[in-house]
Amino acid sequence: MAKVRKAVIPAAGLGTRFLPATKTVPKEMLPIVDRPILLYIVEEAVRAGIEDIILVAGRGKASIEDFFDVSYELEDKLERDGKHEWVTSLKQIRSMANVMSIRQKQPLGLGHAVGTARPIVGNEPFAVLLGDEIMISPKGEATVTEQLARSFETTGLSTVAMMEVPAEETSKYGIVEGEISKVDGATLLRVSNVIEKPTAGQTTSRFALPGRYVFDASIFDHIKVTAPGRNGEIQLTDAMVAIAKSKGLIATTFKARRFDAGDKIGYLQANIELGLEHPDTGTALRAYLKRLAPTL
Ligand code: G1P
Repeated sequence: MAKVRKAVIPAAGLGTRFLPATKTVPKEMLPIVDRPILLYIVEEAVRAGIEDIILVAGRGKASIEDFFDVSYELEDKLERDGKHEWVTSLKQIRSMANVMSIRQKQPLGLGHAVGTARPIVGNEPFAVLLGDEIMISPKGEATVTEQLARSFETTGLSTVAMMEVPAEETSKYGIVEGEISKVDGATLLRVSNVIEKPTAGQTTSRFALPGRYVFDASIFDHIKVTAPGRNGEIQLTDAMVAIAKSKGLIATTFKARRFDAGDKIGYLQANIELGLEHPDTGTALRAYLKRLAPTL
């Protein structure tokens, strides 16, 4: 089975939930402790064996491209100041993968954004990682994208991540329905239907899509003929229904902490939890939170 070597990261959104910060800074570049959100996503992909990262960007996202490019003046200054470990770390970021980008010229929906990457992805299987969700897997364990890629490579079927959510949250996500099985502690679904943000009573399933997918290239053909759906947008979930009904689609639970960094609370939670684990900030942040807690 073909290896999953490419990943698409849609990053064309306007980031309206983070205005005014996102007026000039793309939301993907907002930091969690000292690293932009996007770096966590790219690292997850790279750990899955991904070599080419394709950013689907809109206007004003040049700083994302610059982040993965050489910053000559900065590196020269760091070198002269003897800060070699910083130079090494910056070099490591830019050599981690081939990062390229393609423009989505109109905001026509997530399905459309993924379809925009077709000229670069070509006829290969590929991963999709939504740019504002951070997945931190337990130390030494496979990343979520890695779990999906290995599933694709063994079954030949497109595989997406799913998580159980309370009934009142199903309207926030794409929801998958299908036949359940259990394999090695994970819950698997042979997907029969996908509904984008169902309203109450539209589904009894509690399995939501948290923004990690591996598709074979046939998804592009389905996207091409997908009519605008919810909100008048070309929905990725609608194209997924077509792939589920043709070649087949698997959804699987995963082992990782998930932060919705595209949301203010999720963003702050990620900063606190990852700040507690960071060698530079962990001890001081823990002491501060302990002092603060009784006053809340
Ligand atoms: C998108 C997808 C949805 C998915 C969600 C995950 O929605 O359309 O199917 O469950 O991401 O965050 P959005 O959050 O962009 O509205």
